[in-house]
Amino acid sequence: MKDRLMTSTLMISHLTKTFEGVKALTDVSLSVASGERVALLGHNGAGKSTLMKVILGLISADHGEVSVCGAAPGNAAAREHVAYLPENAAFHPALTGLEQITYYMRLRNEAASGAMDLLDRVGLAHAAKRRIGTYSKGMRQRVGLAQALIGHPRLLVLDEPTSGLDPVSRRDFYALLDGLAADGAAILLSSHALTEVEARTDKLLILSGGKMVAEGSLPELRREAALPVSMQLHAINGYDTDIMKAFPAAIRANGVLQLACSQDEKLATLARISKLHSKLADVEVIPPSLEDIYSHFSRRDGQ
Ligand SMILES: Nc1ncnc2c1ncn2[C@@H]1O[C@H](COP(=O)(O)OP(=O)(O)O)[C@@H](O)[C@H]1O
Ligand SMILES: [Mg+2]
Repeated sequence: MKDRLMTSTLMISHLTKTFEGVKALTDVSLSVASGERVALLGHNGAGKSTLMKVILGLISADHGEVSVCGAAPGNAAAREHVAYLPENAAFHPALTGLEQITYYMRLRNEAASGAMDLLDRVGLAHAAKRRIGTYSKGMRQRVGLAQALIGHPRLLVLDEPTSGLDPVSRRDFYALLDGLAADGAAILLSSHALTEVEARTDKLLILSGGKMVAEGSLPELRREAALPVSMQLHAINGYDTDIMKAFPAAIRANGVLQLACSQDEKLATLARISKLHSKLADVEVIPPSLEDIYSHFSRRDGQ
């Protein structure tokens, strides 16, 4: 644990931020290590963007400690190593992708000759010389990502980078993040929907009403939520009543018999079901969905 804390690229402890009486963040602690991909989840207003702005040094916290690559947020050493993709990043529509990235590279004192390579990495080489005004939403997100990759950052802070992307663009986007993490970058990205975040992230953090309400991998959160498993039994014609007798708690709906049981009871329940196999046409086991798990932790009222 100690080793891990020492190698953390981003460390936040007991962070609190209030805006004119609105508690945007309350006692938030987290860490992101080199090579780790962390997803920060929460409904609108949960505090995700505020947390990111504090990490960038764009706003200051009321209390708590933040260390970015060993430096204070916003100071020169931290800024050199951190890249940021703001929520709804906007670009000048009259510039081409190549001009925009060249411009950003000059701002960061990087040799602008690498602009085309960066656009190629995000899959935009073919459109580099087209005006950004003609780009799709997914293409504009990639301009933002290319901008965030300038100068080999050690920490990437990406605010809702996948919102509005189609599934193929999202998959490409995560493949790119995989490569960056494999090269040692620490990645913190936010999203307001669990379904937008691929299971490929290493850790999920759920913010609700400014508080960190859950932390772990998807399997860990699934276990912790301990939501019931649903089973659908398709009885062979005429055997409905026999099945209902064996499972009095089953509910008849849409021509199937529905059962729910806890994770712990799953195998025992399946064993009982298999004894009825001559009377059943099919059985479906439906685990709690990502949305079920997410809403278990993340209540809109910030519970
Ligand atoms: N500059 C600001 N002034 C006042 N309130 C703010 C400001 N920025 C954010 N907030 C409030 O802080 C809370 C968290 O907002 P935000 O961090 O933008 O959430 P998220 O990014 O998760 O949607 C919200 O209640 C929001 O209204
Ligand atoms: Mg936000």
